[in-house]
Amino acid sequence: MSDTAEPAQPTAVDRARASRPLPKPGIMDIHAYVPGKAKADGVAEPIKLSANENILGSSPKAVEAYLAHATQLHVYPDSRTTVLRNAIAEQYGLEPERLIFGCGSDEVFAILCQTFLEPGDNIVQGEYAFAAFAIGAHACQAEVRNAREPNYRIDVDEILRVVDDRTRLVFLANPGNPTGTWIPFSEIERLHAALPPSVVLVLDGAYSEFARDPTFHDGLDLARTASNVVVTHTFSKLHGLAALRVGWGYAPAEIIAAADRIRLPFNTSIAGQHAAVEALRDVDFQTRSIEHVETWRAWLTQQLGGLGLDIVGPSATNFVLVGFPSAGKTAEAADAFLSARGLLTRRVLNYGLPNHLRITIGLEPHNRAIVDALAEFMQG
Ligand SMILES: Cc1ncc(COP(=O)(O)O)c(C=O)c1O
Repeated sequence: MSDTAEPAQPTAVDRARASRPLPKPGIMDIHAYVPGKAKADGVAEPIKLSANENILGSSPKAVEAYLAHATQLHVYPDSRTTVLRNAIAEQYGLEPERLIFGCGSDEVFAILCQTFLEPGDNIVQGEYAFAAFAIGAHACQAEVRNAREPNYRIDVDEILRVVDDRTRLVFLANPGNPTGTWIPFSEIERLHAALPPSVVLVLDGAYSEFARDPTFHDGLDLARTASNVVVTHTFSKLHGLAALRVGWGYAPAEIIAAADRIRLPFNTSIAGQHAAVEALRDVDFQTRSIEHVETWRAWLTQQLGGLGLDIVGPSATNFVLVGFPSAGKTAEAADAFLSARGLLTRRVLNYGLPNHLRITIGLEPHNRAIVDALAEFMQG
């Protein structure tokens, strides 16, 4: 460090005396979110299997609703997201006033962090947890405590082991990203029963619609009665509305009353609200999407496993996490090999998984192209 450099973690006094604005301590240590690649050098129209989007697109009814609001661009949206609030409340049998909406569920996580975390508090999550949880916590100068995930799966005892008296939030994506794995509802109940009542358990159900085992549950039943459980959902995955940024949470009234005080007033758009209502109603599109994922996820798992690759799982999401043997055939080399053929997958280095690739389930020709290319890669 040169003698003119600012200290890594400036105190309030350092910041007051600084010759330029200094971010608060910890901000510059945050690893900014890395989105899935959308471009490949020299390939005009690459196939994007890097962001777990819905490969079938969106419900045509949702698209119609979006277009129908194109003449209202000058109007502020309803800050209460009322049409969608009522539609979700009806569909899931929830109290409308206990819902909160966000610019994606990412924003709901950030709002929860801002609501509960003081500097020195902590959140607890699995070691491969979705990156947005830690970003939200660090932005509040809170600590992030990672619990081991043996076999790439959340382990309730490991979570409980790292909870301490400064833990305010436990974040748990079920199924998880990037692992794709899940734990049964009985384990969620066991975790909840063992947590102090002052700790908020956040159950992120971004991929929950793809998890169809009868022992799986997104946690809404627990959230109905518990005073410290929040369940979040998104329209970005199954519903194929990632571009419109609509997510929601269901929480106890007291949590909503606090969180709504800091929520930005117009955080979902008019078109987003209406498109989401139509997406929710389009059961046919949802069923087709889930069936497509199930068919091709099983096929990809079997085919890639047959190439000697290690498929983490079983996945209950619209992607698979693929482990590469370390000697020679690395994930880095595979990623480059696939990219050169216009197949964009996701490296997961930032999750501490340098030798894995996360691959979104594609259309049939995409999935076949992935298997053909990886077969060539592994033989080469
Ligand atoms: C596990 C998980 N949770 C939440 C999200 C956030 O989704 P959005 O902000 O689009 O609602 C994602 C997106 O990739 C995710 O993978």
